Amino acid sequence: MKLIRATDYQDMSRKAANIISAQIIMKPNAVIGLATGSTPLGLYAQLIDWYRKGDIDFSQVTTVNLDEYRGLPRTHDQSYWYFMHKNLFDHINIKPENVHVPNGMASAETAGAEYDALIEQAGGIDLQLLGIGSDGHIGFNEPGSAFELGTHCVDLTEKTISDNARFFASIDEVPKQAYTMGIKSIMQARKVLMVVNGVNKAEIVRQAFFGPVTPEVPASILQMHPDFTLIGDAEALSHI
Ligand code: F6R
Repeated sequence: MKLIRATDYQDMSRKAANIISAQIIMKPNAVIGLATGSTPLGLYAQLIDWYRKGDIDFSQVTTVNLDEYRGLPRTHDQSYWYFMHKNLFDHINIKPENVHVPNGMASAETAGAEYDALIEQAGGIDLQLLGIGSDGHIGFNEPGSAFELGTHCVDLTEKTISDNARFFASIDEVPKQAYTMGIKSIMQARKVLMVVNGVNKAEIVRQAFFGPVTPEVPASILQMHPDFTLIGDAEALSHI
């Protein structure tokens, strides 16, 4: 594991954007795995800025996102498809046909296998970007998830459902399931890059990367990845 210490959120975002940008310069047709959530927003803004300045070209890049709510159409403003377009894809020259997010409206029987086949056909993931949940989840792989799964359907925890209720008109509208790349899909990426900031992530960073590898802390498996880079700001790295 490579640990990169950033001073603050902006520094973390710029360092991570530099690594993604270097990957695209080295391999213009790279397959980049992307994440939603609040942590990558700064790095997406940085990538957009460098694209506008002519420093990055996304015309041959393929992206595959980690996860999507089951049952939400792409047009729903809480879907991860919508999030990614609003915060990145609508502002860069990526080809629409090269953008992939699990289809929330697909059937649970086929969605996972189809997404894994798509990743394989694209040549596998060159660089997978991740955030981490305060319970150690990566994608929607919650504590206790099997390490050997590819993309699959998960039941969201009561906590996640109630946390998400603020984004919906009522708790009944909050999706109860999601599709997520599994730990196996993530571990198969050639490089993994995690961004983490804030003091509320400090304890889980210590447990995940300086404690035992256990399904109870899903991100801990990344200790076994041959090319894993963690970029944290000073607060997130304050317990190590
Ligand atoms: C997002 C995802 C999640 C987030 C994690 C951290 O696609 O898969 O695992 O990375 O929940 O979220 P934030 O960045 O909002 O703290």
